[in-house]
Amino acid sequence: MSQTSPRKILVTSALPYANGPLHLGHLLETIQTDIWVRFQQQRGNDCIYVCADDAHGTAIMLTAEKNGITAEQQIANVQAEHEKDFADFLIGFNNYHSTHSEENKHYAETIYKRLRDNGHIATREITQLYDPEKELFLADRYIKGTCPKCKAEDQYGDNCEVCGATYSPADLINPKSAISGATPIEKESTHYFFTLPAFNDLLKEWTRSGRLQDQIANKLGEWLDLGLQEWDISRDAPYFGFEIPDAPGKYFYVWLDAPIGYMASFQNYCDKSGLNFDDYWDKDADTELYHFIGKDIINFHGLFWPAMLDSAGFRKPTAIYVHGFITVNGQKMSKSRGTFIQASTYLKHLDPEYLRYYYAAKLSGSVDDIDLNLEDFTQRVNSDLVGKVVNIASRSAKFITKGGDGKLSGTLANEALWQQAVEKSTVIAEFYEQREFGKAIREIMALADATNEYFDSQEPWKLAKEEGKEQQVIEVSSLCINLFRLIMIYLKPVLPNTAEKAAAFLNCQLEWTDNLEPLLGHTINKFKPLMTRVDKDKVDAMVEDSKEAEAKLQSQPKRPTKENTDDFIEFDDFAKVDLRVAEIIAADHVEGADKLLQLTLSLGDDGTRNVFAGIKSAYNPEDLVGKLTVMVANLKPRKMKFGVSEGMVIAAGPGGKDIWLLSPDSTPDSGAKPGMKVK
Ligand code: 2FM
Ligand code: ZN
Repeated sequence: MSQTSPRKILVTSALPYANGPLHLGHLLETIQTDIWVRFQQQRGNDCIYVCADDAHGTAIMLTAEKNGITAEQQIANVQAEHEKDFADFLIGFNNYHSTHSEENKHYAETIYKRLRDNGHIATREITQLYDPEKELFLADRYIKGTCPKCKAEDQYGDNCEVCGATYSPADLINPKSAISGATPIEKESTHYFFTLPAFNDLLKEWTRSGRLQDQIANKLGEWLDLGLQEWDISRDAPYFGFEIPDAPGKYFYVWLDAPIGYMASFQNYCDKSGLNFDDYWDKDADTELYHFIGKDIINFHGLFWPAMLDSAGFRKPTAIYVHGFITVNGQKMSKSRGTFIQASTYLKHLDPEYLRYYYAAKLSGSVDDIDLNLEDFTQRVNSDLVGKVVNIASRSAKFITKGGDGKLSGTLANEALWQQAVEKSTVIAEFYEQREFGKAIREIMALADATNEYFDSQEPWKLAKEEGKEQQVIEVSSLCINLFRLIMIYLKPVLPNTAEKAAAFLNCQLEWTDNLEPLLGHTINKFKPLMTRVDKDKVDAMVEDSKEAEAKLQSQPKRPTKENTDDFIEFDDFAKVDLRVAEIIAADHVEGADKLLQLTLSLGDDGTRNVFAGIKSAYNPEDLVGKLTVMVANLKPRKMKFGVSEGMVIAAGPGGKDIWLLSPDSTPDSGAKPGMKVK
């Protein structure tokens, strides 16, 4: 542990929208942040990592509507998925919260009122396009029409994907609301603006005070030189967010309260842990605050956020650490190529530490994009982690367990080699600190190479067969075990699980102290495999699965509204569906199936049917026996993994515990709501 007094550090990653699943792009950021945080903690600093879901905005409101659930249900479902995925990727948040929270409401209101009282809020009428059917003001991305320049059809409201022209939505020819298809009208309303131009000078200075990477400071500098515009922070109802305190029917724009979510999550953590909020957010706080973000949101974090904090009398970030985007196999993530990989799809096939390692090996302190080349990924993880690092332990441990009863030698066979590895501690730590993880990994792998070369040069497997060389074998192997321990200490921020297994094997903690001492005369445990090789077939299966996940998403019928009849079926087709009341006479779990129950349904004189239904999350089989339900009785039998399904029961709901088999006596009190999708 560091000799100097521990630094007090608060770290955040950007808050993912509660609007859909996490993908490997999100993970680049959280893995980068998590490695940095774990490094700080391992060095003995008080480093706290908070995050939250970004839960507000029109998009979330519309998704909830499409899914037939309330916005609150929508964000709760997505947050649960996000938290699970992050935990499975070993992201060690101290706290994960939501921007739709009491704490966030409190800080959003506090900050707004302070801005207002300082004269930094202006109001004026603006004219926007409005969907008269949906009764909703339309953001640019919800308007489609013909490009005024090249006449390409079906272009979004602010730019043409065909000719690249930028324009205002009112310039589109034949504009339509992308939500209802209605022709938008122009409508006026009062909007609230944050007077950013008042902060031009402050921001010019702040962005040049060493808190940003040069590239980012330069980009923001260009914008500052052009002069900032006032920032529209209000949206009209209906909007999912917080109402502005003195403006009924007006809501804070999602980006106003999103970064405030950092504070909210931290406040929530303070309430649980006893930490003091002001120690980290007071104007004069002497703690450190870092935001890890992607390069697409630097205006919000590098300009708007410090200006808001300044006006509201809070401290500004110590630094903002910006990373680039991820490409897969050299190209933008693509749904059709199967390279738009969701976190949960990855986890179904592969170990999270493979990705943590690969990202670490490629990350630097710069804003450059990172390519996840799946072949290189497989090859690199196998050759570095399995072939080099784990190999040191497995081949050395054999001799210690066999010849030395598990006890390491009392002296070091090669003091210089050990010393050299210890001395690398400083430079590796410095690379971690600077987010130059790729460089840290290169140093660590060079140590692994040196260790393997040493082992090979000593040929302990030959010595072991020679009379009188037993001690030499133990000494060579002990040194290699000690070097393996150092390597695992250095890799612990990247590979927390493997480090834990290594600690159990080595029978000691993997602390990264300033004076790293060897284990001498120390007893280790029996070696157990620490990591398996990346299986290329599993990588391929993940890509295939990603294509399927996407196809599934695409094939979901759009929500049937009166305006959207594209996916409606003809009455004659519907009339073919033979719906029958069926009695559930048996219900059982299906071994190996996460979601299914096996039901035996009686159709009276028409016999029984075996049906597999995806309702396990919502029902105990024993509670179903004897109940009546509705089934589709004339569905062609379908061969499934667990047997043949001879029909379908009709259930509706968002999923999880909330799936309801329809029964004639259901009422809205049961939780099923009108409009829910029938599954
Ligand atoms: O770009 C995004 O995904 C946003 N949800 C990030 C918000 S970061 C912070 F400001 F909350
Ligand atoms: Zn065009």
